[in-house]
Amino acid sequence: MFGRRSNDPSTPKRIASPAPAAPAASVSASAPAAPRQQVQPAPVAPRPEPPVEQQRRHSEEYYDVKTTVFNALIDTIDLTQLSKLDSSAAREEIRDIVSEIIQIKNVVMSIAEQEELLEDICNDVLGYGPLEPLLARDDIADIMVNGASTTYIEVGGKVQRTGVRFADNQQLMNICQRIVSQVGRRVDESSPICDARLPDGSRVNVIAPPLAIDGPALTIRKFKKDRLKLEQLVKFGSITPQAKTVLEIIGRVRCNVLISGGTGSGKTTLLNCLTGSIDHDERIITCEDSAELQLQQPHVVRLETRPPNLEGEGEIKMRDLIKNCLRMRPERIIVGEVRGAEAFDLLQAMNTGHDGSMGTLHANSPREAISRLESMIMMGGFSLPVKTIREMITGSVDVIVQASRLRDGSRKVTHITEVLGMEGEVVTLQNIIVYEITGEDANGKLIGRHRSTGIARPRFWDRAEYYGESDRLAVALAESEVSDANGNPLGEQNA
Ligand SMILES: Nc1ncnc2c1ncn2[C@@H]1O[C@H](COP(=O)(O)OP(=O)(O)OP(=O)(O)O)[C@@H](O)[C@H]1O
Ligand SMILES: [Mg+2]
Repeated sequence: MFGRRSNDPSTPKRIASPAPAAPAASVSASAPAAPRQQVQPAPVAPRPEPPVEQQRRHSEEYYDVKTTVFNALIDTIDLTQLSKLDSSAAREEIRDIVSEIIQIKNVVMSIAEQEELLEDICNDVLGYGPLEPLLARDDIADIMVNGASTTYIEVGGKVQRTGVRFADNQQLMNICQRIVSQVGRRVDESSPICDARLPDGSRVNVIAPPLAIDGPALTIRKFKKDRLKLEQLVKFGSITPQAKTVLEIIGRVRCNVLISGGTGSGKTTLLNCLTGSIDHDERIITCEDSAELQLQQPHVVRLETRPPNLEGEGEIKMRDLIKNCLRMRPERIIVGEVRGAEAFDLLQAMNTGHDGSMGTLHANSPREAISRLESMIMMGGFSLPVKTIREMITGSVDVIVQASRLRDGSRKVTHITEVLGMEGEVVTLQNIIVYEITGEDANGKLIGRHRSTGIARPRFWDRAEYYGESDRLAVALAESEVSDANGNPLGEQNA
């Protein structure tokens, strides 16, 4: 513990101080990073409040001391001069002054506590304040701030509450503003919804009052420095080595693929993995709302949509990007997420010589993905008969890969499904590999298996042959077969 012997003498005066930033409260940066694959016990009914992360909350006294030191610092330094320094020089400068202030104000604290205070204050002045320790951790997938005093994170597929808090909603709003202004955007009462990106590529959404009732809500999808690769998905048990081979072949032989899944189920990750098997001599154009994909090929053009400006002008939608794409001689078009009328343009592109195009969409099963596509096209204002839309879908999409986040927090590829054609007015689908849950262990971890449905010759067999991949495909599918107790392969009827 630390306290104050006295709080009298004035602080060392340096240069005049414009524009004070809000004093801030923060939390220890010393929380150890939890291992990625840590699995929490499964929730039992009724579902308990997610556990508060094992992270030390500071005492009120700490925040008092911090506010005093922070205010003295702001009175002492010239923020304009500070902003001209590079970040390590600015940190050094702040450290020197804060140490001096601590001495002058006779604050008693251990070296470790002083270090924490210094770190917190540097984060408040130079960075994203209380968010900094969370941003520094690579095991966190999402950061969700629900107003100044509540912050949740997702680690290892599980959502948990943290001890992180902001001084007040104004400080949180200032940080949101700082984030979005870096990409030339603004968030305030008159423009309360904003998408942005952190310098490291993390995807950010802010929704501010009055739309967010309990204070600004900030959501960050952390950018993974090392994007997951298919091999890692195998290691995590998200797919089997055989399913990995099937996905690689699907990506390589230019099947048109849709990746379907719920929020945060791993769609973008899977899309990124699939693009890994595209040959290096193909020209690829990516269209995204917020650039997240990291393609490894040399010949890639990356496009990003643009929201309207404050006057409501200048918006560039996904449709505009895909249409423009078609004039750019693409060999493959990759759409980060299909949400609306652009579904029509993507299907058309898939249908008109841009084989191997890919996209993701929100749906809970391959069957639902088809109906989502249908409704996106209908709601996009295309007055086409349902049958025509379905024919368009079956003529364009070859494979649907379904991603899911299961209730134990694990992420799985649950279906690799082919779009076969139409039977009357109904789109026919054929599962090739499915994941089935067989039980649950004592820790609430789900037990299951990926297995082939017995389809030895999927519809893309000819393509696989053309690319010299048919042998690899045959082996992967044969090895994915699972037998029942009598040694008979489990077929689709049992799926
Ligand atoms: N198979 C996996 N195993 C473990 N973690 C995964 C797996 N797939 C994705 N993740 C992690 O889950 C988080 C969400 O993944 P991703 O961004 O791909 O999801 P998404 O479905 O595209 O989400 P959104 O709907 O928000 O766009 C990321 O941090 C990612 O690294
Ligand atoms: Mg995504």
